[in-house]
Amino acid sequence: MSKLKIFSEKINISKKRVLVRLDLNVPISNFKIMDDVRIKKNLPFLKKLIETNAKVILVSHLGRPKGKIKSELSLKPVFEYLKKNLSKKIVFYDKNIDDNAVSCSKNLKTGEILFLENIRFFKEEEEDNEVFAKKLSNLADIFINEAFSCSHRKQASIHSITRFVESYGGPQLEKEIKSIDLIKRKKKKPVTCIIGGSKISTKINVLSSLIQNSDNLIVVGAMANNFLLFKGLKIGMSLIEKDVGNFIEKINYLAKKYSCKVFIPTDFQVSTSMNGKPIYRSKNDIRKTEIILDIGKNSLNSICKIIDSSNTVFWNGPAGFFENKNFTHGTISIAKSIAKNTKKRSLISIVGGGDTLAALNGGGFENSFTHLSTAGGAFLESLEGKELPAIKVLRK
Ligand code: 3PG
Repeated sequence: MSKLKIFSEKINISKKRVLVRLDLNVPISNFKIMDDVRIKKNLPFLKKLIETNAKVILVSHLGRPKGKIKSELSLKPVFEYLKKNLSKKIVFYDKNIDDNAVSCSKNLKTGEILFLENIRFFKEEEEDNEVFAKKLSNLADIFINEAFSCSHRKQASIHSITRFVESYGGPQLEKEIKSIDLIKRKKKKPVTCIIGGSKISTKINVLSSLIQNSDNLIVVGAMANNFLLFKGLKIGMSLIEKDVGNFIEKINYLAKKYSCKVFIPTDFQVSTSMNGKPIYRSKNDIRKTEIILDIGKNSLNSICKIIDSSNTVFWNGPAGFFENKNFTHGTISIAKSIAKNTKKRSLISIVGGGDTLAALNGGGFENSFTHLSTAGGAFLESLEGKELPAIKVLRK
C-alpha cells in the first residue's frame, strides 16, 4: 500500500493559501458552545500555520443541515471562539464559493484566516460534487485534511477536493491513524467493546464486525433500549429506533456464532422528563411515562467486572443522557473503571466519539486511556478494518 502524504514542516507554506478541513462539529445550544474539546485540539496546529506565515482558509461542517441554511447550525459561535483564541485577523465568509471567495482568499495577508460558514449548507458538499470541490480547491494552494473524525464521509470538502489541489493529512489525523493501527495490531484478548449512542442502524455494520473479533459486547445508552424492547420488556417513553428487529436478530445470531457475550443493562435511572431527576428502576418496573436516561448500579457493577477482566477495551458512546448532569454517573463510572485498569495493569483502551468526549470533558480524563479519539463513526469504521475514503485519497 502506498504511503500516506502527511504534512510536514519541510513543505513551504509561507505566503501560500492553506485550506484546512477541520471537524468543528461541536455541540451548540442557543448559539452557545457547550463543549470545546474539538476546537481546542486544533489550536496548536492553527497557531503553527499562522506563525509559518500561511494564509489560512478553514472549512468545517456543523450538524446535518442537508444542504439548507439553518441559522441554528451556523458556525458563527465557533468563529467568535477562534477570534478570541487566535491572535491574527480572522474573517467570516458566508457567501457562495465563487470568484468572490477566491478573491477573499487571495486578499488574505500572511497569518490571516478566512473562516467559511458551515460547508454542509451547500447540498453539493454531501453529494461529493466534483464541480463544487473544484471551486473550493480554487481557494487553496495546499489542502490539509485535519478532520480524521469526518474521513469516513465521501464529501466534497474532504474527498473530491484532493483531486484538484496538492493534498496532505494533518498532524492530528496522523496521530489518530497511527494510534488506532497500533492498538489494532497489539490488542490482547479478552477484547470488550462498549457501544452507546442512539442510532443502531448506522452502527450495524460496525457492530457485526466488532462481534466477530470481540469476547464481550456491552450495549449502553439509548441503543440498548431497542434490545430491551426486542426482549419484550416495557421501556415506557424511552427513545427507540423503528424497524430494527432484523438488525438485533442479526447481532444476536453473530454473537452466538462467534462466541461473543452480549451484555444489555438490567437496571436504570429513569425520569418522566429529560430535565428531570433520577428514579431507580429495575428492568421489569419501568412505568409507561418514564424514560430510561442512565444505567443502574447493578448494570454498572457488571460492566466494571467485565472491564476488570478484559485486556483490551474499545468504547464509543455515552451510557446515559449526559446533557443532564443527573444522568452522567454511568458514563463517568465506566470512564473511571477503564482509566484505573489502563493505569494499574496496562489495559489497552481506546475511547472515542464526539459525545463520549463531551460527556467526559472536564473530568480530567485527557491522559487516562491508551488513546482518546475525537472521532465517532470514523473511529468505529477504522476498528472495523476499513480504510476511510478521505484517507485513501491521501495516498501517494
Ligand atoms: C462526528 O461528529 O462524528 C463528525 O463530525 C462527523 O459527523 P457526521 O456523522 O454528521 O458526518
